[in-house]
Amino acid sequence: MTDPSGQIDHILIEDRKFPPPAEFTKRAVVSTQAQYDEMYAKARDDRDGFWKAEANEHLHWFEPFGDVCQWNAPHAKWFLGGKTNASYNCLDRNIDAGRGDKLAIVWEGEPGDTRTLTYTELRSEVAKCAAALTQIGISAGDVVSIYMPMTPELPIAMLACARIGAIHSVIFAGFSAESIADRNNDASAKMVITADGLYRRGKVLPLKETVDEALAKSPTVEHCLVLQRTGTENVPMTEGRDVWWHDVVDSQSDDFPAVPLDSETPLFILYTSGSTGKPKGILHTTAGYNLWAKRTFDWVFDHREDDIYWCTADCGWITGHSYIVYGPLSAGATCLMYEGAPNHPAEDRFWDLVEKYKVTILYTAPTAVRAFIKWGDEHVEKHDLSSLRLLGSVGEGINPEAWIWYHKMIGGERCPIVDTWWQTETGGIMMSPLPGITATIPGSCTTPLPGIVPAIVDEAGNVVDAQHGGMLCIAEPWPGMLRGIYGDEQRFVEQYWSMVPGKYLTGDNARKDEHGFYWIMGRIDDVINVSGHRLSTIEVESALVSHDAVCEAAVVGRHDDLKGQAIAAFVTIHNREPNEELRKELKLHVRKQIGALAQPDDIRFAATLPKTRSGKIMRRLLRDVASGREVVGDTSTLEDLSVLAKLGDDEA
Ligand code: PRX
Repeated sequence: MTDPSGQIDHILIEDRKFPPPAEFTKRAVVSTQAQYDEMYAKARDDRDGFWKAEANEHLHWFEPFGDVCQWNAPHAKWFLGGKTNASYNCLDRNIDAGRGDKLAIVWEGEPGDTRTLTYTELRSEVAKCAAALTQIGISAGDVVSIYMPMTPELPIAMLACARIGAIHSVIFAGFSAESIADRNNDASAKMVITADGLYRRGKVLPLKETVDEALAKSPTVEHCLVLQRTGTENVPMTEGRDVWWHDVVDSQSDDFPAVPLDSETPLFILYTSGSTGKPKGILHTTAGYNLWAKRTFDWVFDHREDDIYWCTADCGWITGHSYIVYGPLSAGATCLMYEGAPNHPAEDRFWDLVEKYKVTILYTAPTAVRAFIKWGDEHVEKHDLSSLRLLGSVGEGINPEAWIWYHKMIGGERCPIVDTWWQTETGGIMMSPLPGITATIPGSCTTPLPGIVPAIVDEAGNVVDAQHGGMLCIAEPWPGMLRGIYGDEQRFVEQYWSMVPGKYLTGDNARKDEHGFYWIMGRIDDVINVSGHRLSTIEVESALVSHDAVCEAAVVGRHDDLKGQAIAAFVTIHNREPNEELRKELKLHVRKQIGALAQPDDIRFAATLPKTRSGKIMRRLLRDVASGREVVGDTSTLEDLSVLAKLGDDEA
């Protein structure tokens, strides 16, 4: 039974509102509603005029661009004929503006070693690496895979590629040899940059060994550059292919000017997991992406010259690309970068770092927030977090109870929280509160940024009343939008542009509330249909998490003869025994919070939930477990395979 309107029922009511503190607003980059309204209207009504002014003010142009945007759906070109360089915008432009001696990167390794780089020092390192890549034989248009620990050399390698027009493809250093080889082959990578090893929770993981295994299956890769990070002995080096970073980079001249590149020069490929099938190589190009990363950083993170900004992501994800490297560096920010695990040597490592470096802006993920809650408040209470003034969240919806904990325990009830909704494909943040003006509501990513025109459509592709919820599309092109899936035009068109011609299909469901705020309701594939009511997973999960005993919850549908689908919930708990009594209590809790319709039919206690390496819950696998089916489909992005085996046996 399907609801013919295709609408998704909205069942969770959240009405706590948090206006920004007056002190914050006074100094904010966007400090009045009128300022936002004006920018939004201008970007909507005069797209070219708005972005022309933005691009001229915020990027360096070796040669000016002509047309602002050529839109032949689904193909966009921005800032046509202009020449710029993302590495120049991140480095030289700041040095020219007097930030040469300002710290660009403040780094701490997992063992506690530290390093700082000013903008001038960072440019020198990038220039040397660019010179080395050129000497090795890499030129514009070549693809370079980067599989590295979170050391400063990772952004240095990215920016060195950008400096010469090579295309970087960063592969998160937790992926297997098989995944590296797949990515190398899909992109015909010519080179891999890696390290001898990586520190993770005090252990050394042998990165080079994994790369060697991958290279045995990567016929296009001719060169491998290896950073010495862990000092691992007897690292196998293949003559004629492998060279050490300290042998070929350190001795180069640091005077290697950025190459003027056409606006649409590919900047990077980043692989993202599809719900089925092999990962997609999302392609971003130079000028539009760079501008989008910079301006969204300025607006959302309210950047000030004296901020110490920390994004806890890894450069292997889009969050690291846009909000560790291209956004904050283009804006001249000082970025803290941390190499290791949040619980090494103890569960207070993040708070130790915030206190030590006096971090002012912290950007992290709900999965991390939920882990902190589970680890206990005492780890937070040990530290002085009074330097913080702004908090951000990204990657998944943040359940209102986790939001409230983040606000109280980390933000001391004084820091606005920006819940940023976006995707690898969008290049940068699409919807988010602006911290100086938005009265936030926990769980909502609030409003679109200037240039973003959302549309909610039904299953037939018709635009519907957004308050009812449906599939989220973006109706107009924006500078940071993906330009394609590398080497797969057909998949690009089918995946994002076929269902609703002319509009970008995000793959998420969303609704808009009476304040005009957007609520992301989860992936389209995750909707559960109970007796003809379409329910969003995140609302049921948020209700479960609002119970004291629940740390994390994942909700999926399983077949039910009577209702079409029944609700199965997987929960991890703390401070309570997993037993029948708690199970009943949780069912009743959801019933009380949001109604009988949403009461889970099954509740399973789990030790951990299956997650991707970037921390997203893999509901697709849970659907198989809930239905008693064998787990099928691609599990290559699963962080810990053993979690799956354990899910079968309920703890209670
Ligand atoms: O489902 C949305 C969820 O993450 C997806 C994008 O994942 P990825 O490409 O890996 O990029 C993650 C970093 C931007 C989205 O389609 N998502 C991301 N942020 C949020 C979110 N869901 C709800 N609220 C968010 N703030």
